[in-house]
Amino acid sequence: MSTLPKLVDYSEAELDQAFKKLTAEMYADLENCNSESEAEAFRIKWLGRKSGRLTTIREAWLKEAPKEARRYLGLLFNNLRETIEEYAVSNVALAKGAQVVPVGSASTVLGRIRQREADAKLSAERLDITLPGLQRPVGVKHPVLRVQDEIVAVFKAMGYSVGEGPEVETDYYNFESLNFPPNHPARDTQDTLFIAGQDSRPARDRLLLRTHTSPVQIRTMEKQSPPVRIVIPGKVHRNDPLDATHSPVFHQVEGLAVDTNITFCDLKGTLDHAMKALFGSSVKTRFYPSFFPFTEPSADMQVSCIFCGGKGCRKCKFSGWIELLGCGMVDPNVFEFVKHNGYDSSKISGFAFGMGVERITLLKYEVEEIQLFYEGDVRFLEQFA
Ligand code: DAH
Repeated sequence: MSTLPKLVDYSEAELDQAFKKLTAEMYADLENCNSESEAEAFRIKWLGRKSGRLTTIREAWLKEAPKEARRYLGLLFNNLRETIEEYAVSNVALAKGAQVVPVGSASTVLGRIRQREADAKLSAERLDITLPGLQRPVGVKHPVLRVQDEIVAVFKAMGYSVGEGPEVETDYYNFESLNFPPNHPARDTQDTLFIAGQDSRPARDRLLLRTHTSPVQIRTMEKQSPPVRIVIPGKVHRNDPLDATHSPVFHQVEGLAVDTNITFCDLKGTLDHAMKALFGSSVKTRFYPSFFPFTEPSADMQVSCIFCGGKGCRKCKFSGWIELLGCGMVDPNVFEFVKHNGYDSSKISGFAFGMGVERITLLKYEVEEIQLFYEGDVRFLEQFA
């Protein structure tokens, strides 16, 4: 057994030096502990009650130390004792549990303690790279736009092209060229929002927010000679107060087909097919006489109630039918405005229709209030994700 360093004056510097030596000796012993018996030998050497190193130190130094050095000496002594006790306990435990003797620095008990600490740290900060990762919720298409796209797709599949037009429109396109003469009472049904400060302009050039997508019919025919098959989705505006089924801003899909020999049968067949594609093949359609200045004859198309299948319920007001869109054969007066571009009503004919996208979305998803589409409440919208 190695002897203790000699102490001369018990100064702090001398004590520091002495404990440094002891600590190094202790660590060297620890490095050599590779088995249960070596771990036990370590314990006896340092902690043995009779002649363990700590007992010797207590006897040799603490008892001999001058009064003023005792506090500092005690501090260093306790520090060393605690460290040794800690190692002695984990040493024996580790040595007992050690079935495999690891190689390298981990082959000593101290090495294994360090390895353990590192392993514990690693598993606490474990990163599972097989997890799918953080998913940022990506927005999805709004239900109204989704249905709008669906409607457009149904017509695209029938060979229709897709067009668009401006939301700020002139009186000419929104009304006049659609055969709404100035001051015609049919204009009143459209609760128009006019742009202010237009009084100095000629009436037909005055700007307004388009009340329907029908002006794009004329815009299309100005650019394209017959034949035409086009659908036009878009936003429209009306001075309507918001209620369960009305909103001042909503969406429509307009349709126009012009060719030789287009008849009301084509209109009926096309819309009947579209409704079956949108609501299911059991849905029926019927056409009810109506009036629009730009079609003659005009009709309101109704579908058999999608809630009760036509038997009659609260939703269809017990009629079995739900009114869905306006349509008709293009009025020859409308063709007059684009006659120069090949629209001679003695040679060609056409049909047109316009449907409200929100209305169809309300029916398709059985939503009760149109406002839900505009409030941006994620709890409502995420149901469509
Ligand atoms: N533009 C009409 C409206 O908003 C709907 C409409 C009816 C469009 C008949 C048409 C049509 O193309 O032929 O009330």
